[in-house]
Amino acid sequence: MKSLLKQLTETFGPSGYEENVRKLVRAEVKPLADEIKVDALGNLIARKRPSKVTKDTKRIMIAAHMDEIGLMVSHIDENGFARFSNIGGVFAKYVLGGRVRFLNGVTGVIGFDRFDKMNEIPPLDKIYIDVGATSKRDCPVKVGDVAAFDRSFVEMGNRFVAKSMDDRVGVLVAIETLRALKSTPHDVYFVFTTQEEVGTRGAGTSAFGIDPDLGIAVDVTAAADTPNAFKMEMKLGKGPCVKIQDGGMIADPRVVKWMIRAAEKNKIPYQREVLLFGSTDARAMQLSRAGVPAGCLSIPTRYVHSPSEMVEYADVQNSVKLLAALLRAKVDLGE
Ligand code: CO
Ligand code: ZN
Repeated sequence: MKSLLKQLTETFGPSGYEENVRKLVRAEVKPLADEIKVDALGNLIARKRPSKVTKDTKRIMIAAHMDEIGLMVSHIDENGFARFSNIGGVFAKYVLGGRVRFLNGVTGVIGFDRFDKMNEIPPLDKIYIDVGATSKRDCPVKVGDVAAFDRSFVEMGNRFVAKSMDDRVGVLVAIETLRALKSTPHDVYFVFTTQEEVGTRGAGTSAFGIDPDLGIAVDVTAAADTPNAFKMEMKLGKGPCVKIQDGGMIADPRVVKWMIRAAEKNKIPYQREVLLFGSTDARAMQLSRAGVPAGCLSIPTRYVHSPSEMVEYADVQNSVKLLAALLRAKVDLGE
């Protein structure tokens, strides 16, 4: 599981350019799924059919996004410095002095001029990517080329740090759940979605296509256990979080209860999640067609959207346990 997480996080796949991640995921799920397809937006859909169709069989969509935040070259000046626009939530305060890697293999440094006040954080348009070029002509990247943070995976005791833990750790949880799920009474669609970071776009179209009875996203949430964090409950090491609300959705209360009951019944630690900002693919599923009961299983993560996102191994393992427990049993929404 660890080595797959390392591989997943060290692969480059900004929104819209998920191909390398999709290749890796496809190789993993191929022997596990009954059916695999890629739709028009690039979502990879791995279906696990029910062992037996009964009146309790539900069509369930699990969504984990393959894309990561990134940068796109918008202009190159005469001296070969590249300006860029953001792909998703990229912030100058996290990227200054860092490195990025373009899909064509070129490395760039996030450069900056002098600061008038050393403590000020410049806006994105005051910084640039330095790819080592000396002129526009010898610049190895062009307008429209995309890059992502360049940082290797590290293990720090029971914690893992990497770029794009958002949401490759969710992708890992979905893959490992499919692996652990020998059989299910449900028709389960594991969807490895595209373009989440720019507005849950892949999940929107794939949910429309699948038309599920129920949707669960697997994504990261902000851990609030650092010195001056927002007043929220989520902590590393205390178990997967059951989302109740975030900036974009109110999770279906029936789904929340069902997830909590499963955690308690199977003695899996869990946390109640109210996230004060952000959202996930669960929002897109919930608002698909005439509406879908949806919830989200979140992995508590520190430093989300920085090049060093941190998770705890036990939370990852318990997320797999919880998701597998949910998919193995009859869905009881208390109706
Ligand atoms: Co994100
Ligand atoms: Zn995410």
